Amino acid sequence: MRIGVFDSGIGGLTVLRALREAVPGHDLLYLGDTARIPYGTRSPITVVRYSLRVASYLVDEGVEALVVACNTATAHALPALRQAADTLGIPVFGVVEPGVNAALAARRGGAIAVLGTPGTITAGSYQRAIAARDPSIPVFAVPCPMFVPLVEEGWTDGQVPLLIAETYLGALRGKADVAILGCTHYPLLVSTLAEVLPGTVLVDSARATAAAVLEALGPGDGAGTVEYRVTDNVERFREVGSRFLGYAPDPVSWVDIGPASPPFIEP
Ligand code: DGL
Repeated sequence: MRIGVFDSGIGGLTVLRALREAVPGHDLLYLGDTARIPYGTRSPITVVRYSLRVASYLVDEGVEALVVACNTATAHALPALRQAADTLGIPVFGVVEPGVNAALAARRGGAIAVLGTPGTITAGSYQRAIAARDPSIPVFAVPCPMFVPLVEEGWTDGQVPLLIAETYLGALRGKADVAILGCTHYPLLVSTLAEVLPGTVLVDSARATAAAVLEALGPGDGAGTVEYRVTDNVERFREVGSRFLGYAPDPVSWVDIGPASPPFIEP
C-alpha cells in the first residue's frame, strides 16, 4: 500500500521513522509543508485549509491511506480530513488518539500532562480524548511554543533548553504520572524533559501512532520505498531532517501543491 504521511514541515519525520520500523512493507510518501510551517501558532481555520490542501495533493498522487503526523493538524483538522477521505474509502490516522491510549496505559492512577504547540493545546483535542475515556483524570495542558524553534536550531541539550523547559514545566514536577509529547519536535528534547520531570513517563505519540497504523494495515509485504517532498527549501529539510531521522532524508524534491480539489473542499 502507498501511505501518505504529512506534517507542517520536518517534525513529522519522527512519525515517519516510527512507521518505517512498524510497517516496513508499505511505501511511504512524506509531504512536509515547509512553505507554510509553523502550523502551531496559526488559527484553526488556516490549519484546516492547509491540511486539506496537503491531503488533496497526496490523494491525487495515489496514496491509499493518510497519516497526519502533525499534532496541530490532527488537533484542528482531523474531522474535516476524515469527512472528505471517507468518501474515497481512504483511512486517516491522527496522532492524538494513539498518544492518549499510550498515556492511559502508562498512567498509575494520577494526572496526565499534555505538552504541545499553542494551537494543539487551545484546540483541546487531547483534553477531550482523555475526558472521553475517563472524565475524572486530572489533565495539565501546557503550551510550549519555544520548543519547536529550539529543536529546529539543534538546541536540544544544555542550559538554554533546560531553562526554557524549567520555565514551562517546573511547576508540574511531581504532579503528573505521564506527559504526552504532543508535538512532533518534543521527542528530540526527551533528555531535557526527563531532567525537569523526573518520575514522569514521557509518551511519544509517534511510536503509538505507528503501532495504530500497523494494527489497522498490517506490516505490508512490498518493497517499502520512502520518498520525501517539501513545499520549500529542500536543502534545509535535508539538513534539519537528518537530526530527526538519524540519517539524511533521500530522495527529496520540491513540489507546489496548489489549492485543494473535491472531495477536499477548503472552508
Ligand atoms: N508539527 C507541528 C506539531 O506537531 C509542530 C511544528 C509546527 O508548529 O508546525 O504540532
